[in-house]
Amino acid sequence: MVERDKIDEIIRRTDIVDLISQYVQLKKVGKNYRALCPFHSERAPSFYVSPDKGIYYCFGCKKGGNAISFLMEYEHLDFPDALKKLARNLGIDIDTTKDLKYKELYEVNEFAAQFYSLALSKEIGRRGQNYLKERKIDLEKIKDFRLGYAPTSGGLVTFLRQKGINIERLNQAGLISQNRELFRDRVIFPIFNLSGRIIGFGGRGIDDYTQPKYLNSPETPIFKKGEVLYGIFQAKESMRTKNEAIIVEGYFDLLSLYQQGIKNTVAPLGTALTESQVMLISRNAKKVKLIFDPDPSGIKASLRAIGLLINAQTDVHVALLPEGYDPDKFINEKGVVELTKIINSAPDFFEFYKSSVKVETVEDEIALIRDLIEIISKIQDPLRFDRYLKYSARVFDISTEVILKEMKKRDVPEPERRPKSPTSNEEKIIMLIFNNIQYLPKAKEIITPEDFSDERVRRVYELLFKDETFDMADLSKYMVEEGLREKILSSLISEDRVSEADFVKALTLFKNSLQRGKIKKELAEAIRKGDEESLKKLKDLLKQKI
Ligand code: CTP
Ligand code: MN
Repeated sequence: MVERDKIDEIIRRTDIVDLISQYVQLKKVGKNYRALCPFHSERAPSFYVSPDKGIYYCFGCKKGGNAISFLMEYEHLDFPDALKKLARNLGIDIDTTKDLKYKELYEVNEFAAQFYSLALSKEIGRRGQNYLKERKIDLEKIKDFRLGYAPTSGGLVTFLRQKGINIERLNQAGLISQNRELFRDRVIFPIFNLSGRIIGFGGRGIDDYTQPKYLNSPETPIFKKGEVLYGIFQAKESMRTKNEAIIVEGYFDLLSLYQQGIKNTVAPLGTALTESQVMLISRNAKKVKLIFDPDPSGIKASLRAIGLLINAQTDVHVALLPEGYDPDKFINEKGVVELTKIINSAPDFFEFYKSSVKVETVEDEIALIRDLIEIISKIQDPLRFDRYLKYSARVFDISTEVILKEMKKRDVPEPERRPKSPTSNEEKIIMLIFNNIQYLPKAKEIITPEDFSDERVRRVYELLFKDETFDMADLSKYMVEEGLREKILSSLISEDRVSEADFVKALTLFKNSLQRGKIKKELAEAIRKGDEESLKKLKDLLKQKI
């Protein structure tokens, strides 16, 4: 465990603006900084950073927190690793080895990968070796992917027991369920996260009648299928150098390209591309080439992906293979040179969209134009925007004015800056306290947790009350109810600090109004009972509290 003090020191000493500007382009507005949100795609910036309060918050997607949560979210790190990274920047030495919340899961996966890859190299893995040979996979060239084989007879449990890992952890990692090993007689594809840790596995049945053909580890705290891409760790370097990414559909497609030297390739894990996968790509490359299977489902997937990729401000091209081919089959039959030709001449999304959507009537054409306008309207780069605007005007024989007018109609309104539900008095008070956390000791003198009747507010204040070092940016860690968390974070961005006198005054007023409420209740009770003595006392008390 890293002590609380150390964590506080690291957060305090980290300049959140310095940190975040390594990843996004911040612009100063007033006392805060603003940028396009790195966590969702948008045209108008709603992501704010407050250097003062050490936090960030996006009014659009509501993500927010402190320096640590930023790194966790952006780099997909766990808490200890994010902390370590910040500490390293500051030259502070910390040991988080015992604190890794997910360390055990990573460790199980690492051992499992060792087992599968060992099995593939031995006699017991003969079926796996033969299969991979048949699929023209050269294990030498794709060592980085650490492919393996899960024997029909199992053996993972025994192997891991020898390593001192208990069964429960295998369960948590999703590698066994009901005492049965999940993967049997399958080629195993370890799935790596951005920093190269194994977070889950994919397995392909060796026999074509094995069902399902592909099987993935279930989701675990470290494995979220929609947030990772197969190959991202191995591809990221090459993606960055070329500033270009290739997206294919399957494991074998990716490996076939990789072993032929096309290394900037990633693949989703058998599901439609998600926004968070797209962000993962767009952070590393500005140009994206999709090579999906040329069947109806592949085309549908491409059309969907185009929208997401344009939103993320990438330049999208779609490579079309001849019917009946996927990249893996194509490269094996026609060779890498032919494939490279196709990739290099991949038409841009506009061309692809136009040629893949069937247009038979005028109405079809209008729908197509609308779709394309919608996509183009998301392009931020003025040059590219202008190019596509004129291009569509020419192709569809419409004036650019009409297109621009159409775009105006669908312009998304600015995100709501104020929280949707009205803010209660108690919420206002807790927000005030967070905004002026330096006066927390004063607040504690005036207000106790029991003063709050809103349970969510009381819970948060209890944390503050107990914990001297509670940091306002720890809100996400403390599982504060989401609506309240958003309100507090957004107030941290938009509200100024107040003077100590005003702070005390506001809290005292609040406390008095509570007490007045209580006295009034007691008064009513005294009147009901006809208790003259109490009545007089209460009336005096009430006068003092006004
Ligand atoms: N996939 C999956 N689960 C399935 C089927 C597919 O997760 N039941 C994923 C795998 O990542 C697979 C990709 O979707 O690589 C593409 O699937 P598909 O086109 O069906 O398979 P191919 O990659 O062509 O597989 P193969 O060449 O091995 O037949
Ligand atoms: Mn295939």
